Amino acid sequence: MIGIFDSGIGGSTILKEIINILPNYKYIYYSDSKNNPYGNKENQTLYSIVKNIVEYLINRGCMAIVIACNTASTKCVKRLRQEYPQILFIATEPAYKMVYDFNFNGKTLVLATKGTIESEKFLALYHKYDNHKTILKSCVGLAELIEEDQQEAIDRYLHENLSEYKDIENVVLGCTHYPLIKDHIKKVLGNVNFFDGSVGVAKELKRKLDERQILGGHSLSVEFIDSSSEEKRKRFEKILGLKTI
Ligand code: DGL
Repeated sequence: MIGIFDSGIGGSTILKEIINILPNYKYIYYSDSKNNPYGNKENQTLYSIVKNIVEYLINRGCMAIVIACNTASTKCVKRLRQEYPQILFIATEPAYKMVYDFNFNGKTLVLATKGTIESEKFLALYHKYDNHKTILKSCVGLAELIEEDQQEAIDRYLHENLSEYKDIENVVLGCTHYPLIKDHIKKVLGNVNFFDGSVGVAKELKRKLDERQILGGHSLSVEFIDSSSEEKRKRFEKILGLKTI
């Protein structure tokens, strides 16, 4: 059994890629919408929230846990690996290295939560691959609007916060909620190249499962749990294109 969690349904963008390359596993997705947003929580508060979810998933028999959230990954994964050495943790980080690999000369906008942008882990990544044409933008409040599916408010938010950026070629979607609003972003920034970490996370999970010989061999199932409302299920199923249990 593989566990996966986020502060809501944003991590579905990661799970979708995981299922593409690892269809023979059983998954439990924990959507912690009650505690959304994670993006501006204190480190210790966030760690306690995440620890509870991790313990729940371990008690349910998960040997591998995907942190489908950039904020929780950057702030908690090191401590989780120390505290639960028997569990395989796969973390998510903004796909800034992809810009270095694929379009180094392009003017780049990295969008993420405040927690991610200000984290040591992200800043180390940024300094390593800096193309000197990059703007870092914390989008306080955006993940909540996406979680609540407030389409018009999302458009307004992007218009107010991104219109000043001209000639952007690359946009790094550094929060797992943001791939859900690519079309909205295009309305403001035009036809940009998007980079997100979902395929990288899925490949890393596959590599590590193979290495540890945590085998699949099951028919695919996805159990969906949301900490605040059962209504999220329909939207989650629509994004994934499958029925959950
Ligand atoms: N989806 C999360 C991320 O990747 C967090 C959004 C939030 O709760 O602030 O950072």
